[in-house]
Amino acid sequence: MEVISPHRIQRLLFLNIVLLSVIAFPALAVNSTDNTFLSCLVNHSESSYPISSAIFTPKNDSFSSVLQAYVRNLRLNTSTTPKPFLIVTALHVSHVQASIICAKKHNLLMKIRSGGHDYEGVSYVAADPFFILDMFPLRSIEVDIATETAWVQTGATLGEVYYRIAEKSKIHGFPAGVCPSVGVGGHISGGGYGNMMRKYGLTVDNVIDAQMVDVEGRLLDRKSMTEDLFWAITGGGGSSFGVIIAYKIKLVRVPDTVTVFKVTKTLEENATDIVYEWQHVAPTISNDLFIRLILDVVNDTQKGTKTGRATFIALFLGDSKSLVSLLNEKFPQLGVKQSDSIETSWLRSVLFFADINISAPVEVLLDRQPKSLIYLKRKSDYVQEPISKAGLEGIWKKLIELDNAVTLYFNPYGGRMSEIPSTATPFPHRAGNLWKIQYQANWNQAGNQIGDHYINMARILHNYMTPFVSKNPRSAFLNYRDFDLGINHNCNDSYTEGRVYGVKYFNNNFNRLVEIKTKVDPHNFFRNEQSIPTLPLAKS
Ligand SMILES: Cc1cc2nc3c(=O)[nH]c(=O)nc-3n(C[C@H](O)[C@H](O)[C@H](O)COP(=O)(O)OP(=O)(O)OC[C@H]3O[C@@H](n4cnc5c(N)ncnc54)[C@H](O)[C@@H]3O)c2cc1C
Ligand SMILES: *[C@@H]1O[C@H](CO)[C@@H](O)[C@H](O)[C@H]1NC(C)=O
Ligand SMILES: *[C@@H]1O[C@H](CO)[C@@H](O)[C@H](O)[C@H]1NC(C)=O
Ligand SMILES: *[C@@H]1O[C@H](CO)[C@@H](O)[C@H](O)[C@H]1NC(C)=O
Ligand SMILES: *[C@@H]1O[C@H](CO)[C@@H](O)[C@H](O)[C@H]1NC(C)=O
Ligand SMILES: *[C@@H]1O[C@H](CO)[C@@H](O)[C@H](O)[C@H]1NC(C)=O
Ligand SMILES: *[C@@H]1O[C@H](CO)[C@@H](O)[C@H](O)[C@H]1NC(C)=O
Ligand SMILES: *[C@@H]1O[C@H](CO)[C@@H](O)[C@H](O)[C@H]1NC(C)=O
Repeated sequence: MEVISPHRIQRLLFLNIVLLSVIAFPALAVNSTDNTFLSCLVNHSESSYPISSAIFTPKNDSFSSVLQAYVRNLRLNTSTTPKPFLIVTALHVSHVQASIICAKKHNLLMKIRSGGHDYEGVSYVAADPFFILDMFPLRSIEVDIATETAWVQTGATLGEVYYRIAEKSKIHGFPAGVCPSVGVGGHISGGGYGNMMRKYGLTVDNVIDAQMVDVEGRLLDRKSMTEDLFWAITGGGGSSFGVIIAYKIKLVRVPDTVTVFKVTKTLEENATDIVYEWQHVAPTISNDLFIRLILDVVNDTQKGTKTGRATFIALFLGDSKSLVSLLNEKFPQLGVKQSDSIETSWLRSVLFFADINISAPVEVLLDRQPKSLIYLKRKSDYVQEPISKAGLEGIWKKLIELDNAVTLYFNPYGGRMSEIPSTATPFPHRAGNLWKIQYQANWNQAGNQIGDHYINMARILHNYMTPFVSKNPRSAFLNYRDFDLGINHNCNDSYTEGRVYGVKYFNNNFNRLVEIKTKVDPHNFFRNEQSIPTLPLAKS
């Protein structure tokens, strides 16, 4: 391993910190080299894992590439996007402990990043001076088929988790997200769902233990952190409570053959009637079947006009014969034939859902870098009553009017999701929710003007959908981070601002999260634009 003089780095960082502290932290006590953040980091980490090889400052040649390696929204990769003054790429648990202890001591803002998929870049952008604790190097995955469990470190991606499970067993899988490059850290701590949700519930419904470093720098497991804190980090967002090192997950059984299909219907092919039917079928049909629905706009080549298109993408935990007979009975309007369906392994069904050639080598799941990146904005909603045909026609009209700037993704709930109490985890959107909407605005050109245009279109459609979605509160999914729901400046009273978005993400579970937060991190060290606030009383 390369040896870098800690003293040299110290001097480098010392300059940065002094510069920043003059601007932003006038009271920051960084006035002697001995007392700098850097020497504190060195002092508090294990010397057999030199933290010097984990520290990147802007003076370091690879600083930009380390920063950009896990940016997953090009909207947050511009020259005006605020940059960290330092990145610690944690190579060892003691680097996490040192980062927390020293950041607290020096009153520095720390952002935690695992896979970097946060839609608003909460893990690597901040308005105030900040540094990033980057977890990507900590990504071991230990699968134990005998106990049907695995320990996964938070820097791992979902694709790696799926690959490592399938490497050991063809009849085990894990119910998590459909995008292989998503990081375990943000995904699990924020709830996590995937296409086996109707059978096995959320990702967090299948988590049984965790390792976490708390605000005092202690390494805790489920037992030592207590049930309250464990509950909080299974859906309440990890970054409000500590740094999660690893989760222990419960594997689930999958058949060695599963079936997938994708069929599309345009408005001319009676899409409205079929979508209407989908609303009644998708949340109530067998738990083995998950049918995602996408609404977008395409050119009708014959008429030369625009038309609506519904795309149905499904995973069935069984063979194609059983699938076709189930659909013939419950959803004949969709007209799925045996020839529309593909029998494959569970691991390859992951490729299908990720829009990767299903015949590609499965090692593609180990690619941590997505094929391409886009500029994006996301929003979410919950639908609790079926929408009338007239309502659906209005939505199509609106999508066409917005010129396909925004696409709607409907993910059906029901099944296991309705059986789990809404207080079992911080994620509250269980029984009574038919499906979740994701609003997707994607674009591929730089510039604020074009970005604002697409963001505005997403807001217009979200506003248009008001009559069809949950109310009081109008609920949203934490993992679909959306700053439009409210921002916390984390001043004296973080609670007042925190309530605004908090009840939308967590409904009645918000207060319990605030109580736990106030107990384990009363000074609100672990904070971001949408973290769980502390109770105002704790401050006085
Ligand atoms: C292409 C794409 C597809 C997606 N598909 C799905 C899907 O199918 N299902 C679904 O549920 N979600 C999905 N999401 C949303 C995704 O689950 C969230 O964005 C999730 O937070 C990403 O985790 P991450 O580690 O990659 O993100 P990061 O940006 O690294 O982190 C997200 C949040 O978690 C915090 N955090 C990260 N690691 C830790 C840690 N170790 N300890 C404490 N806090 C931590 C961060 O500080 C930040 O607040 C998708 C997102 C994208 C971009
Ligand atoms: C680091 O440790 C040295 C020796 O143990 C000590 O003299 C110094 O004050 C420590 N520095 C910090 C910032 O803790
Ligand atoms: C930082 O840059 C120096 C060269 O300036 C390099 O030697 C060192 O390896 C870099 N730091 C890390 C953590 O890799
Ligand atoms: C992010 O921005 C940098 C600097 O402009 C650029 O070099 C890099 O290619 C960008 N990343 C992507 C994936 O476009
Ligand atoms: C659409 O529905 C009508 C009336 O039910 C039916 O006659 C027609 O065949 C359907 N069109 C298609 C393409 O399925
Ligand atoms: C649809 O047609 C318009 C021109 O009328 C064109 O700009 C657009 O790219 C087309 N969209 C698709 C998806 O082909
Ligand atoms: C998918 O991969 C297979 C095998 O590599 C190849 O033959 C086929 O053409 C690919 N299909 C597409 C649509 O790229
Ligand atoms: C925050 O609290 C401090 C003292 O506790 C006080 O001086 C300051 O004015 C308060 N700021 C706001 C915005 O309330």
